[in-house]
Amino acid sequence: MRHSVRAFSDRLVTKEQLEQAIDYARYAASSKNMQPWQIAICQGDILKKLSHELILAAQSGQKPAPELGESKDSPIPDLYMNRARQCGYSLFQHKGIERHDKEARLDHWCENYRFFGATTVIFFYYDHTLPQHCLIDMGIFLERLMQGLEQQGLSSCPQASLVSFPDILDKHIDMPQELSPIFGLSLGYEEVDQHINTFRTEKLSVNEITKWFN
Ligand SMILES: Cc1cc2nc3c(=O)[nH]c(=O)nc-3n(C[C@H](O)[C@H](O)[C@H](O)COP(=O)(O)O)c2cc1C
Repeated sequence: MRHSVRAFSDRLVTKEQLEQAIDYARYAASSKNMQPWQIAICQGDILKKLSHELILAAQSGQKPAPELGESKDSPIPDLYMNRARQCGYSLFQHKGIERHDKEARLDHWCENYRFFGATTVIFFYYDHTLPQHCLIDMGIFLERLMQGLEQQGLSSCPQASLVSFPDILDKHIDMPQELSPIFGLSLGYEEVDQHINTFRTEKLSVNEITKWFN
C-alpha cells in the first residue's frame, strides 16, 4: 500500500523511469479534458541550490506563503483540524520530538527542504485563474503520478511545504509566468531500514466515509 516516504536513498532515478511514470499519469481524468497540469523536474545542482536557499528562508524565520486556499476568514473546521493535529503529533511522537522542542520541530520542517534525501523533486504548476474544480484534476494527476512511480519501484512524498517560498522557486525554475507552483513531490528509492519510513497514518474505515442510499 502506498505511503508517504520521508527517507530516500541517494540511488539515482533514470530519465526513462520518470518518463514511464509521467506517461501513466498523463491519462488522468480532467474536467473537459483541460489537463491543467505542468511539471518541472529538478535534479542535481539546481536541487542543491533550492535546498540551501529554502533552508535559509525557513531558519531565518521568513514567513511562509499561505497554503492554497488558506485564509484567516475561513479557518479549517475543527473536524479536519483535529485530524491534521493528530497526524502531526503522531509523526513527532514517532520521531521522538517533544511538542515544545522548537529546535527539533524546525529541523523536522527543514527535512522537507532536504527533500528527505531524494535526488529528484517534481514541482507541480497550476494556473490559478482556472475554475476551482480544476484542482480536482491536479489531485488526480498527482495520485496517478505517484502510482506510476510505484510501478517503477519508486516511492514519493507530496509536499505543500516545498512551495512555501515561491520566490526562491521562481528564481531557479523558469516556467510560464501565468503558472504558480502548488506543491512538490520528492521521490526516489525508499530507505526501508529508516525508522521514519515505518510511520503509518490512521485511515478512516469504509463505514466512516460512506453512507448508503438504496
Ligand atoms: C497536497 C499534500 C501536501 C502535503 N505536504 C506535505 C509536506 O509538506 N510535508 C510532509 O512531510 N508531508 C506532506 N504531505 C503528506 C501527508 O502528510 C500524507 O499524505 C498524509 O499524512 C497521509 O499519509 P500517507 O501519505 O502515508 O498515506 C502532503 C500530502 C498532500 C496530499
